Amino acid sequence: MLFISLVFSAILIGIAVELRRTAAAPVWFALISTAMIGISIMSCMFLPTPVVFQALAMFIVMIVFSAVSVSKARYTGGLIAVTALAYLGIYFVAVRPEEQEYERLRKDFPMENMALRVRPPASSVAALASPSFASQMEAETLEAGTLVRERMLVNLHENSTSLFISNAGFGATRMIFRPRRSTIELETEEPRPQPGPREGSAGGGAVEEKIATKSLLDLHRDSFRDFVNPKGWGFIKDRKHVAGFVPHRMSTSPRGADDWSLQTLDLVGLLMHDKPVAYVSENLPRMDQLKTAPTRDLDPFEAAGIAALRGGEDLYARQNATTLRMLGAIRAVEQCTTCHACDRGELLGAFSYTLGRVAGK
Ligand code: HEC
Repeated sequence: MLFISLVFSAILIGIAVELRRTAAAPVWFALISTAMIGISIMSCMFLPTPVVFQALAMFIVMIVFSAVSVSKARYTGGLIAVTALAYLGIYFVAVRPEEQEYERLRKDFPMENMALRVRPPASSVAALASPSFASQMEAETLEAGTLVRERMLVNLHENSTSLFISNAGFGATRMIFRPRRSTIELETEEPRPQPGPREGSAGGGAVEEKIATKSLLDLHRDSFRDFVNPKGWGFIKDRKHVAGFVPHRMSTSPRGADDWSLQTLDLVGLLMHDKPVAYVSENLPRMDQLKTAPTRDLDPFEAAGIAALRGGEDLYARQNATTLRMLGAIRAVEQCTTCHACDRGELLGAFSYTLGRVAGK
């Protein structure tokens, strides 16, 4: 945009100098410059803002100069000077504020080093995620909503020169993915409380009978999707350069499955501690809180479950008359592998669910 504006400006100066000896030069100039600007708006859909101001200023200068006689050099110099002023004015009024906003956005959404935040999984057992689920997840994260935010963050951090050159101040244009705070800044989601009491949930109840239904699997997949939150990943250049990452969090309360209602959902973490732990929180898992939350050792059910998930199962569930307990695998799909420095299919954690039978069923 800047280049086109500059070319236009040079042409305008050339025309004005050529017209110098003509009687009624300012009138001719006004006609020609209006036509040029008009054509530029109609033909390529852009409005070179500095050129409009420059033309106006030059017009005034020409009227002044037509009253007094000046040398060609002074005449040309005067026109160049007002052109420079027009650009300076535009720079301070329109371009600089936008550049400053980008500067603020860069500070608010800086490049972060994931290697300093999370360790790669210690286990080397790379079991594959159930392929249909993995590919569905992988396709989903390419949804347009995610892409726009990501492109804006890319432009913000990688394309600052082209952002400057195509600044709207130099000419209204349809540059797509111009970084906008309203898109980059995601709404903060309120923590969701654990749906039911913890007493008699994790750790309690002899749970014998093996169970696996589609709705249990759906419950786990929905929770997984909600927690990892692809919208909040931002721009992942590499593991050491990630911009705009929002920590994983659950933003909705899962209801349950079949005739079971959810009581508690704990995250079993395999990455942040030296041994597997379950985080204890009043709220459904959110990494911003869990990083400082108390942890407990896995209970026997969870320990058995983790072993089963490591062996390649996606769901480990057992029930008795009143309680259903379930461990669901949180495995890396393709998009997780850069931040987590792991292979596709590796186990990064699990959700430990306790559900109670809905009364009357
Ligand atoms: C943009 C980087 C990034 C991506 C992409 C990402 N994660 Fe994470 N994840 C992190 C970071 C960083 C942490 C550590 C907590 C924190 O600092 O927010 C983490 C923590 C976790 C934890 C908790 C581990 C523990 O021990 O507490 C799990 C589980 C997890 N991620 C799973 C996934 C899965 C599954 C995917 C892909 C579907 C994924 N993550 C994608 C950056 C990422």
